[in-house]
This record gives sequence, structure tokens and C-alpha cells, in this order.
Amino acid sequence: MISGTLELREIDRWSGPFSGEIRDRAVDALEDGLVLYFPTLPFRLEEQEQCLLSPAVANGKAKNVSLDPLSGSVKGAAPDADRARLHAMLERFAAQATQLVSELFPAYVSGLERARTSYRPVEIEGRSYSALKDDKLLHVDAFPSTPTHGRRILRLFSNIAPAGHPRIWRVGEPFQDFARKFLPSLPRPNPVTAWFFAAVGATKTRRSAYDQLMLALHDGAKRDAAYQKGAPQVEIDFPPGTTWLCYTDQVLHAALAGQFALEQTFHIELDSMADAARSPLRVLENLAGRSLAN
Ligand SMILES: [Fe+2]
Repeated sequence: MISGTLELREIDRWSGPFSGEIRDRAVDALEDGLVLYFPTLPFRLEEQEQCLLSPAVANGKAKNVSLDPLSGSVKGAAPDADRARLHAMLERFAAQATQLVSELFPAYVSGLERARTSYRPVEIEGRSYSALKDDKLLHVDAFPSTPTHGRRILRLFSNIAPAGHPRIWRVGEPFQDFARKFLPSLPRPNPVTAWFFAAVGATKTRRSAYDQLMLALHDGAKRDAAYQKGAPQVEIDFPPGTTWLCYTDQVLHAALAGQFALEQTFHIELDSMADAARSPLRVLENLAGRSLAN
């Protein structure tokens, strides 16, 4: 039985202060691999931003429009899209998301990095991709060119669709159960391959053994049709005007349908967690019986 979500109806604003009781419940559920669901926390578009609710704002090559927090540049927008307006919306969303995460998880602040912000204006349902690129299949997040070395991937989403159109997810079994099934059949991490990819610039830094295993888990789950069909999973609908948050490197997730969502990615140092033993790095090390940090 998968519980899937912790619903936090009492959080209906992006800024705190939040009570110690809510903060404790939130961090415990988050690190346990639940999706924190805020059914009464909308991200509100301003009047002049309503025109951005169109798939035509994306350039068609990228499925998302994204904001790079370091350069401040907006990527993936159509040539005739209103970049200034997109930038303002993405920046406001990023600021609110950062405020919520900082105040709900104060212990994370010292190890928190605000990464990319994305706007997803294209309907998911009906899109077809190769299995490895298909996020309609259950997976944990692992990015080929961006090794994390065990740092966490935390993502916050808001459904900003005008009305009636839920974003539909499936979430799967606990990470530990999933990893235990797949780990014995995965190729052993290979330091030479990791060195080579870094040397030719295919990865930003050298992949650790952990990064190699996480990519293999991502690919292994997506390629396994029997697992996709038969694995324990529950469907969750996120209606317009709602927000949710989870560790996507830990929660097996698939996005089945939906249009018009905003997403903020954060990275979090393992040391900042309330209980790092529940992180994918420590769970995999425990199962493998050795360090995977290098
Ligand atoms: Fe994902």
C-alpha cells in the first residue's frame, strides 16, 4: 500500500512563519518519500501574464521554457514570445518557491541551492518519446550531464492551468523496495567511463558510482515494461490552483497528463537533511555494502 501524499491544507500562503508541529511533520514526510501536497496554495498569475497561457510561448524544440538562476537568461521560448513577461513570471515563482522551502525547512537553508525554474506550457498526454525520455513512465530523476554526487533533487510544482485540467501523476513504491529489485541486475559503476565522459565534456563533473547507479535505475525502470505495468503505484490528481513538492531523486513518479505547470528545482546538501540515512545515496550504499561517493 502506497500512501503517496501528505496533504497540508493549512499551508495556504508562500511565506511563514509555520508552526514547529507543521515543520516537523513536513520534513519527516518529505524525507520519507512522500509528496507534500498543498491543495490551497495557488501560484497566482497577474492579469498581464494571462497571455502566457499558450503552448505557443515555447519554441517547440524544448518542451519547457526555463530560467537559469545564474545568468538570468530564459531558454526555450518562441522567438516572438514576450521574454520580459516570461522572465518576470518565472522569477516571481522562483522567489515564492524559495521562500516556502526556506521557511518550511529552515534546517535546509544553509545547504540549499536554487537551480532551474521551468514553465511547462505543452500538454503531456499524447506526446510520444523514446522510453528513456518518456516521463509518462515511472522513474526517479537522474540527469546524464549533471552528476549530483548524492546531493538531493527537490522539486516544487504548481498547476497554473485556467480551470478543470488536473496534472495527473502516478507515484510508485518506496525507493528502498525499488532499488532492492533493480540493483542486482545493474551494471557495476565504471570509473573509467565516468572519467571519459567528464574529459570529453559530456558531463559537467565526473560521475560518481552513485550517479552511475542512479542513471541505471532511471533507465532500468523506464525500460522495464513489466515493472511499469505491475509495480505498486497510485494515481494522484493535482487540480489547477494547487502546489506540490517532493524529492524526485527518491519518489518514483510519472507525469501522465496536464498542461501549464511551473516547476522549481532545488539541490540540497545531504548534511542539511534531518535524517540523511533516508537519502538515495545512503540507501544504495547500505544495499551495496560499500561507499558510492566516488
Ligand atoms: Fe522526473
